[in-house]
Order: sequence, then C-alpha cells, then structure tokens
Amino acid sequence: MEQLVKELNEKVRGFSAEQVLEFFIKDYPGKLALGSSLGAEDQVLTDMIARIDKSTKIFTLDTGRVFPETYAAMAETNKKYGINIDVYFPNAQSVEELVNEKGINLFYESIENRKACCHVRKIEPLQRAMIDVDVWVTGLRKEQSITRILTEVVEADTLSGKIKINPLLDWTEQELWHYIKKFEVPYNKLHDRGFPSIGCQPCTRAVEPGEDIRAGRWWWETPEQKECGLHSRRNGK
Ligand code: ADX
Ligand code: SF4
Repeated sequence: MEQLVKELNEKVRGFSAEQVLEFFIKDYPGKLALGSSLGAEDQVLTDMIARIDKSTKIFTLDTGRVFPETYAAMAETNKKYGINIDVYFPNAQSVEELVNEKGINLFYESIENRKACCHVRKIEPLQRAMIDVDVWVTGLRKEQSITRILTEVVEADTLSGKIKINPLLDWTEQELWHYIKKFEVPYNKLHDRGFPSIGCQPCTRAVEPGEDIRAGRWWWETPEQKECGLHSRRNGK
C-alpha cells in the first residue's frame, strides 16, 4: 500500500484539483466516493465531481445532531446538480445505548465521552459507507489545523486501509470562496454567520474574525484533540 500511495502521489504531482478527481474517477470506476459534510470544501468537490461524472457516489454521515442549515444545503445541492447524496445514519440501538447510559449531551463531560459519541455517530457509519469503496475523497486542507499539517494528496487511510485523496489540500480559504462564487455553488448558510468549519450543532460554534478556522469545533478541547477519528493520523493521533 505504501508503495502504491507513493506512486500515485508522484502521478498526480502538479495536477489541479479537477485533474486529480478526473484521474481517480477514471482509474477506479464505480469505486470512488466523496464523503461530504456539506461544508465549503465538500461543496466545491461536489461541483467538480458533478461536471466529471454525476453517477459518482457522494455520501454524508448524518449524525442526527447536525444543523438545520446543513439539511437545507443537502436538499439544495441534490436539486441543483440532479444528484442524490447517500445518507448514512448511526446504528439506532448503539445511539440508544450510549445516550441512555451517558446522557444526551455526554460529549461535554469528557474527551472519552466525546470520542464515544463520534465513534457511534460517525466512525461506524463511515465504515458502512466505505464497504464497496476503494478511494475516499475528502475536503481536507493543510490550513485547517495543526493535526493536518502532514497530510498528502494521496494517503493510505489508517482506519480502513483504503486510499484517501485530498484534492483541495493546498487550497486557501480565499480560493475556495472564489470558486463557490464563480460557479454559484450552493453552500451552508452558516458560513455567512461566522462558521468557517461546520460539524454537529452541539459541538460547533461561530468564531471571531481572525480566530483559527477550526476554533469553533469542540471549542472546550485543546487543539491537538480536535479530531473525531474520521481522519486518524499515521502517528496515531
Ligand atoms: S472532522 O473530522 O473535523 O469532522 P471536517 O469537518 O474538518 O472533519 O471535514 C473534513 C472532511 O471530512 C470533509 O471534507 C469530508 O470529506 C469529511 N467529513 C467530515 N464530516 C463528514 C460527514 N458528516 N459526512 C461525510 N464526510 C464527512
Ligand atoms: Fe457527537 Fe459532537 Fe462527535 Fe457529533 S461532533 S458525533 S455530537 S461528539
């Protein structure tokens, strides 16, 4: 796997985000999927994918705790592109057990609880979403957080053992918004209200101008902790 990832990184070196997507969509027909949180990055990728091949799988993990604005963005996106984003819900019994044992807002109590919630509501559904997928497309960008500095365009996903590609790795916030405006890409309206990064409603808040773009995610935790486990790093963090 390591060798394959190295070769793929060499192949796509210097490619634009669109070229990276085109390359992988052609090379892995029917085996590539975009995981979308309906955030700005994923909306740009959705727009690019819809131009290349509308039959490409796009999925979202609906934790049951996302914002109403996120559902509005999903409905608008499906309509505009004539696509159907696949929705994966958490296992109902696992959610029941967790909240009945630890409380409905367990995530504020400890990092352990927060990770348990992310596991039930995101990680397990992700594993189901990825069953028939070989290449997972994400909207990760280098700018996003200290835990993401080492990311490469093509990576081996430590959790699933599959290929993960990050076509927008080097994009800046400014480039993202330029693209969104230029191509009239639908976006989550919370972005207009001080939310640069949007996850679940109880775990996301608006940030002040100049604050770190992920400062509003799990704001009560330290920056090194702020990963839900979807994007586990090679060093195990
Ligand atoms: S998180 O790990 O902190 O939640 P973040 O919100 O920065 O992730 O998003 C990074 C990338 O992870 C997104 O571009 C998307 O590819 C994927 N992702 C995050 N949340 C979801 C979700 N709910 N459903 C599908 N993919 C997601
Ligand atoms: Fe649970 Fe918060 Fe993680 Fe969402 S982000 S799955 S509500 S802990």
